[in-house]
Amino acid sequence: MPALVLLGAQWGDEGKGKATDLLGGSVDYVVRYQGGNNAGHTVVVGDQKYALHLLPSGILSPGCTPVIGNGVVVDPAVLLSELSGLADRGVDTSKLLISGNAHLITPYHTTIDKVSERFLGKRKIGTTGRGIGPAYADKINRVGIRVQDLFDESILRQKVEAALDSKNQVLAKLYNRRAIAVDQVVEELLGYADRLGGYVADTTLVLNNAIDQGQVVLFEGGQGTLLDVDHGTYPFVTSSNPTAGGACTGTGVGPTKISRVIGILKAYTTRVGAGPFPTELHDEDGEKLRTIGGERGVTTGRDRRCGWFDAVIARYATRVNGLTDFFLTKLDVLTGWERIPVCVAYEIDGKRVEELPYSQTDFHHAKPVYETLPGWSEDITQAKTFDELPKNAQKYVQALEEMSGAPISAIGVGPGRDETIQINSFL
Ligand code: GDP
Ligand code: IMO
Ligand code: MG
Repeated sequence: MPALVLLGAQWGDEGKGKATDLLGGSVDYVVRYQGGNNAGHTVVVGDQKYALHLLPSGILSPGCTPVIGNGVVVDPAVLLSELSGLADRGVDTSKLLISGNAHLITPYHTTIDKVSERFLGKRKIGTTGRGIGPAYADKINRVGIRVQDLFDESILRQKVEAALDSKNQVLAKLYNRRAIAVDQVVEELLGYADRLGGYVADTTLVLNNAIDQGQVVLFEGGQGTLLDVDHGTYPFVTSSNPTAGGACTGTGVGPTKISRVIGILKAYTTRVGAGPFPTELHDEDGEKLRTIGGERGVTTGRDRRCGWFDAVIARYATRVNGLTDFFLTKLDVLTGWERIPVCVAYEIDGKRVEELPYSQTDFHHAKPVYETLPGWSEDITQAKTFDELPKNAQKYVQALEEMSGAPISAIGVGPGRDETIQINSFL
C-alpha cells in the first residue's frame, strides 16, 4: 500500500482535514499537491480544534512528515504565520518539507485576484481572494516566482521585474490601481528566505525514495472534484487540479505508485462561491443543513450554500478520479429528518439524464430528480460500527453506495477523530 490519494468528491469542504488526520497516525508522509491557502481544513483532536489552510493535515500527527508539493502555490506570509500559530500551540512543525519548485503567491497576486473579481461584477467567481488564480496563471504563463528563487537575489529580481512589467500596466491602466514597486516585492520576499530555507527540499526525490522503501505516502487534496479546472464546473472552479491526476503532477510521483484513491463525500452537498448547484435548497431545509452542519467557510467565513445529496456528482467523482473508496462524512447532520431526498438523476429539457452533462449549458438547466429515503431520529454520534446505526441510516448509506459506484469504507458521525465508523481499512 505505498501511496494513497484522499480528495474531495464534491465542491470542497467534505471533511478532508478530518479524514487525513485520521490516517495521519498510520502513514509516513502527508502531502499537499495542489491549491494553496484557499483551502480550509478543520481537524478536531479531543477538545482542540485546528484550522489548516496551507499545511497538510498530517502536521498534527507526530510520526508523520508533512510535505508541500511542487503543485501547491505558497503564500510565504501565510505559511509562516500558520507555522508559528501551530508552534504556539505546542505542535512540532520542524519536519515540514517544501518543494523548491512550488510557486509563490506574492502580494500582487492577491491584489489582482481581488480587483479582477470586482471587475467581473455580477459574473464574478466568488474566489477566496487569496491570489490563487493569478499565481497559477503566472505559473502557466511562465512568469511565476518559485520557492527556490528566494535564495538567488539576482534571479528573483529579474523574475519579479518580468512579472510586474505587464502587470503594472494592467493595474494602472485597467484597474486604476497604483503600480507595485519591484524593490518592495523583492525586499519582502527576501525577508522570508532565511525562515523558509531549512524546509526546502527535493520533495520528488524524497517521496519516491520513501515509496521505494515501503513507506506509506498520503496525498491530501484541497478543494474538490467539481472545483477542478479541467473536470469541474468551469469557469466556476479553482485554478488547479484537485482530481487524482493532480497528485502525480503536483508531486512528481507516477500513477503506477498510487494504489488507492479515496473520495471524501458529504452525506449532503455544499458549495461556496458562485456557479451551478442543481440540488441547492433555498428553503428551511437548506437553512437547517447550514445550521446543524455548521456550514460556514473556514477560510472566508462565508455561509456555504447547502442542498441534498447528489448521486450524479458522486458517480462522476468515481469516474474522473478512479475512486476505490468513499469516506462518507457528516451523516449525523441528517439525523431528525423524517424523509431525506436524494438526487438520483437530472432532468434536462424534459429528458432524464443519469450522468453529469459535459455541456455547461445543459448543467445550468439540470433539474434534480429525487428519490426520497426514510430518515431516522436516533442520535448516531456514538455509533462505532455499521450495525449500531439505526436501520434507516444503514439503508441511506447503502443506497448512496449503490448509486455512487464505489464502496463506502468509512462513515463520519461527528467532527472528532473517534467519531468515525470504519468499515474497510484504508491501509
Ligand atoms: P475540508 O475542507 O474538506 O477539510 O472540510 P472543512 O473542514 O472545511 O469542513 C468540514 C467540517 O465538517 C469541519 O467543521 C469538520 O470539523 C466537520 N466534520 C468533518 N466530518 C464530520 C462528521 O462526520 N460529522 C460532523 N458533524 N462534522 C464533521
Ligand atoms: P477546501 O480545501 C470550498 C472555491 C471558492 C470559489 C472557487 C475559486 O477547504 O475544500 P479560488 O480562491 O480557489 O480561486 O476560488 O473555489 N474554493 C473552495 N470552496 N472549499 C475550498 O477548499 C475551496 N477553495 C476554493 O469559493 O468558488
Ligand atoms: Mg474546507
